[in-house]
Amino acid sequence: MRDALRSGALVDDRTFDCVYPIAVRLASPMHWTPVQAAVRAAKLLAVRPGARILDVGSGVGKFCIVAAASVDARVAGVEHRGHLVDIGRRAASAFGVDVSFTTGTLEDCDPLDVDGVYFFNPFAENICSPGDRIDGTVELSEARFVRDILAVQRFLRAARVGTRVVTYCGLGGAIPNGYVRQLAEPCAGRIELWVKTRHCAGVEAEELFADLAEAGAS
Ligand SMILES: C[S@@+](CC[C@H](N)C(=O)[O-])C[C@H]1O[C@@H](n2cnc3c(N)ncnc32)[C@H](O)[C@@H]1O
Repeated sequence: MRDALRSGALVDDRTFDCVYPIAVRLASPMHWTPVQAAVRAAKLLAVRPGARILDVGSGVGKFCIVAAASVDARVAGVEHRGHLVDIGRRAASAFGVDVSFTTGTLEDCDPLDVDGVYFFNPFAENICSPGDRIDGTVELSEARFVRDILAVQRFLRAARVGTRVVTYCGLGGAIPNGYVRQLAEPCAGRIELWVKTRHCAGVEAEELFADLAEAGAS
């Protein structure tokens, strides 16, 4: 499958997902990026050989593995559920691709260490109906949602000019000023590409969310 992805052949999701335990496979249509969308997103992020790509909320590593197999990039994922990181590591090893997975959050990542950032609407779980959640092993709340969006905005503000951001099915909050949307297209879900073209000015978006954070905390 790795060679098929490398050669640009389309691998269907059911085949790819066979690398995962059954419970992970069942969650795939809702929670893991389809192969076709992952290939497209990886190509939009890796515009130079060896580009550093970070998947924020990497889950069981599906986007990371497809990216590592299909483009010339250094791929990393950060994921707050340790048991999903373990599954991702095993899957990457089965595919024979090199991905660096970290258990943690965006606060553990250096914005100057990335050329491209990928988000598959990672924080939506905080505000979706309980039946659509992956599990109950982490804090999920509206207050957490706001904190996570603020963390993304701080990260993107601190990133270098030229940093590329791809969202799949949205992010859940505003991309800071300084980023320009270059593309929006349907690809299973909606893919958007944003590129940082200048340093970010002001903190409007953070201020907007700060009120919500206080409301969520009280
Ligand atoms: C929609 S899934 C996407 C998984 C993966 N990116 C993919 O496309 O295959 C979102 C993932 O983000 C993780 N996540 C949510 N909030 C997070 C946070 N604040 N820090 C790290 N991971 C987070 C969830 O545990 C979940 O695995």
